[in-house]
Amino acid sequence: MTPASPAVRRGRPLGGRFTPPGDKSITHRAVLFGLLAEGTSRIEYANPGEDCLGSLRCAEALGAAVRRDGALWELTGTAGALRAPAHPLDCGNSGTTMRLLAGIAARSAAAVTLAGDASLSRRPMARIVTPLERMGARIATSEGGRPPLTITGGALAGIRYDVPVASAQVATCVLLAGLAASGATEVRLPGPARDHTERMLPAYGAALEVTESEHGGRTVRLAGATTLRAREVRVPGDASAAAFFLAAAAAEPGASVTAVHMNLNPTRTGLLDVLAAMGAEVSIEHVRDEAGEPVGDVTVTGPDRLRAFDVPAEWAPRLIDEVPAWVIAASAARGTSSVSGASELRVKESDRVVALARNLAACGIESDERPDGLAVTGGTARGARIEAHLDHRIVMAFAALGARTAEPMTFDDVSSVATSYPGFFSTLGALGAQVEGVA
Ligand code: S3P
Repeated sequence: MTPASPAVRRGRPLGGRFTPPGDKSITHRAVLFGLLAEGTSRIEYANPGEDCLGSLRCAEALGAAVRRDGALWELTGTAGALRAPAHPLDCGNSGTTMRLLAGIAARSAAAVTLAGDASLSRRPMARIVTPLERMGARIATSEGGRPPLTITGGALAGIRYDVPVASAQVATCVLLAGLAASGATEVRLPGPARDHTERMLPAYGAALEVTESEHGGRTVRLAGATTLRAREVRVPGDASAAAFFLAAAAAEPGASVTAVHMNLNPTRTGLLDVLAAMGAEVSIEHVRDEAGEPVGDVTVTGPDRLRAFDVPAEWAPRLIDEVPAWVIAASAARGTSSVSGASELRVKESDRVVALARNLAACGIESDERPDGLAVTGGTARGARIEAHLDHRIVMAFAALGARTAEPMTFDDVSSVATSYPGFFSTLGALGAQVEGVA
């Protein structure tokens, strides 16, 4: 469980095997597709964090019957006939919950209000409001297109939509609305955003066609007026959760860590390519297929010293959630490394460019903020008090960096870690870092 105020510092060299929690993106989708489906869906190895539990509670409020036994969740869906919720739905800290649910709420003739915490209330929602309004929904927002959103939907019509950023959340939102629309819906993505929706939806009975396009983008065409059918999903391990330990192993000479049962979907493995380009040894074994996703055991071993590497802008969507973990490697490399093409970092749970640069400075590591990314110069990191900015990935990045600092890394607030990875600090300790404040 997440301790109240942990302190992390160097222990023994990082080493060992761990199983990351179930993938958060896939768990959200399994819950929300299950809400729309006819029949009882089973989700094995669901992500145990607050974000996915929030999606589950929202599904319940919209009429799903839910049974939960640890990481095994069962949902009896609504066959698309949503219950009008009695209260605003609380999406907590989770952008995925709000943006995907908005596409579902758009089918409801009764008004549905989606609200979130202070971090989510600052995040941009115009990117989903624009296409949903074109499909026929009416949406009231707070100033500047921010949450809360009140959505009144009903009769929707399919559209062709060019998603302006490579965002899987926006594409999925539009496709979920498209399931209830008359006529087909087509979304065009400009880059390699994660493709879990396209991999999963056909198994629920949706008719989808995917065409690859330039720069790793794709066009997805979905037939409208479809009722999904329930199914079983065994969720692969979350590559974005594993990333912190894998990057920390890459950054420490002689460290070697194995993530067991990790999702290897190529839209999610940009960080592994970057660590290899920086000189870490990355080996993958026991590759198999689960829930339509490639899964395997990934071992990363740290070389004597990583070398700096400029991540090409086209790779950014494949490691957008791993940039905080990348910082752990970049801050140990010889020279200056950079990430570009990643302006989306500025609208995540925090402005991650700012949160990373300020906390790196506190740790004695030089960095340079850029409009679409940042550059980091390797050095010797020292422990510091980290400002979390209500962002789980900021806490986890600096806690994993603490595995190589002599002084303790401490935090103003670590509660956000529970949104995605409640067992994070225990695993960090088990792999070799000295973690105080964990039972
Ligand atoms: C997610 C998509 C990404 C990612 C987020 C989860 C998803 O966001 O950063 O953590 O599950 O679809 P964008 O779609 O906004 O890029």
